[in-house]
Amino acid sequence: MKRPAAKNAKTIACVGGGYIGAGWAAYFLAQGKDVVLSDPGPDAEAKARVIIDQAWPYLKKLGLAKGASKKRFRFAGSVAEAVADADFVQESAPDREDLKIALFAEMDAHARPDTILASSSSAFLPSRLQSRCKHPDRVVIGHPFAPSYLVPLVEVVGGKKTSRQAMQWAFDFYESIGKKAMKLNKEIESYVANRIQHVVFEEAASLVDQGICTYDDIDTAVAYGPGMRWAFAGPSTCYHLGGGKGGIRHMIDHFGWKRGPKAKKALIGSIDGRYGHLDMAELEAWRDDNLLAIMKGLKAVPAKKSGAAKKAAPAKKPAAKKKAAAKKSTTKKKA
Ligand SMILES: NC(=O)c1ccc[n+]([C@@H]2O[C@H](COP(=O)([O-])OP(=O)(O)OC[C@H]3O[C@@H](n4cnc5c(N)ncnc54)[C@H](O)[C@@H]3O)[C@@H](O)[C@H]2O)c1
Repeated sequence: MKRPAAKNAKTIACVGGGYIGAGWAAYFLAQGKDVVLSDPGPDAEAKARVIIDQAWPYLKKLGLAKGASKKRFRFAGSVAEAVADADFVQESAPDREDLKIALFAEMDAHARPDTILASSSSAFLPSRLQSRCKHPDRVVIGHPFAPSYLVPLVEVVGGKKTSRQAMQWAFDFYESIGKKAMKLNKEIESYVANRIQHVVFEEAASLVDQGICTYDDIDTAVAYGPGMRWAFAGPSTCYHLGGGKGGIRHMIDHFGWKRGPKAKKALIGSIDGRYGHLDMAELEAWRDDNLLAIMKGLKAVPAKKSGAAKKAAPAKKPAAKKKAAAKKSTTKKKA
């Protein structure tokens, strides 16, 4: 059987049904697909159904596709059974390379030879995962962000033996179900978004280690500052906006440029390609509209229930109590 057009993929196999795999299952169901899930863990079916049930109200709010139903979920007793009739396979087993290499060999042996096999892995090179497959050309990484039933990004990464057609099919498939897919030009461990997150977290931990601020402050700094803008405009767009009417060219003139002419051309070209048709006032209006939408939509963290807080907190000595009271009053001020 020939590979269907990406948008027509109807039956999806989820191999591994934990936090990410069952989240994927919920999302595929909401997109009107038939989902077959396999997972050898104890009570795996019941656990996956709990995650699907938890996701469903949010997916309803996001908008269900025509024909979408939780009834189109089926639990399979084995990987072979799950992938046999699948038009697409999303693997979400634990992040152990040996396990995933063996699992890809097994999926490869039982799926139709042209069915795309994608891994949710957060780290591994697809060249390694496809190393024991007879049809390695159809193996890709399709790395989601938690919760996989809501966050749009999926990073599509190919290995040395992945075909361009398979990369494009996976990209088109994720886009056709409303995800925001992005293709990497070449493979690298941990891909792009996690590498960026990692750098931010390492710097945050270093600032705390140096006594500059606390982890509370770090979260405040990111969530109320750059994080608000990053929700709709990544770092390069923010850099452009930071330059005021002069945009990215002004930023480069003002702060200098360390990365050579090729990288400079790539940055300016990217900005001009996306925003060259707008003047800065129009781009700033777009930024402000989005900021307002986010600021108005955000919900506060649910308040502590007094009884529960007392239960959870360990018994405190008098001195510790004083310290805790002082901390509570500063936290209140910040909120
Ligand atoms: N948790 C995250 O934030 C996150 C985000 C993006 C990607 N990922 C990736 O998703 C994958 C799954 O992570 P998770 O957080 O859902 O882990 P998890 O532990 O919640 O789920 C893993 C599931 O795989 C099952 N499993 C074990 N062996 C299996 C096998 N041979 N075949 C099929 N299923 C098997 C387990 O029983 C379990 O239910 C990992 O590759 C991880 O790197 C995780």
